Amino acid sequence: MDSRRIIILPSLLAADYGRLADEIRRAEAAGADALHIDIMDPGFVPNLSFGPDIVALARRTAPSFYRNVHLMMSRPDLYLEKFRNAGADTIQIHLEADCDLHTELRRIRELGAKNALVINPETPVEATTPYLGEIDEILVMTVHPGYGGQKFIADCMPKVRCLRERLPEIDIMVDGGVNAETAPVAIAAGVNQLVAGSYLFGKEDMAAAIEGLRRSGK
Ligand code: DX5
Ligand code: ZN
Repeated sequence: MDSRRIIILPSLLAADYGRLADEIRRAEAAGADALHIDIMDPGFVPNLSFGPDIVALARRTAPSFYRNVHLMMSRPDLYLEKFRNAGADTIQIHLEADCDLHTELRRIRELGAKNALVINPETPVEATTPYLGEIDEILVMTVHPGYGGQKFIADCMPKVRCLRERLPEIDIMVDGGVNAETAPVAIAAGVNQLVAGSYLFGKEDMAAAIEGLRRSGK
């Protein structure tokens, strides 16, 4: 069993959009480690979500609440400065995006943020090999990106196991379908960062749910 601390990131996609600032404060007050903000363009996923203004809202609302920004975009390279200027602390870009990943991963760091590489469920783990020396974090998607509330794809766990074996120190995150049943599966495979949207924002007592996820590997 892994002894590293489990980091919990509520996904703002599942928040009540009529009360976004309150929802950001609720997640911070509940003891979340960071806020996960999903940015979608419809050329990359079959949906649309937020832009840099929502990242800026998060910074304004909760300045010290870490902002983890997940760019589900075909051309993240065109928006890196905008998201960094809006307050992104980590910027995650997809391996399936249409840009030079070596260049853009480096540029995220040059902008002063942490970088992360994201792989979709159908992308083989071997595709990450050229980038493993250049990343701060890797996100293994456990749903097909585009929507919250989907079912966790446990078939992605061998990729996590393989990455954890190769990179004992790196942060490995999963995103999609994380709840009290699936979190222990992910942690057992070697994940140390869990994104959870509908599960956490749907709970009246978010603090208890966060603590439950954090302890679920023990
Ligand atoms: C999916 C997004 C996720 C989403 C997860 O495209 O990247 O971050 O919010 O939602 P849940 O936890 O409801 O599966
Ligand atoms: Zn996400």
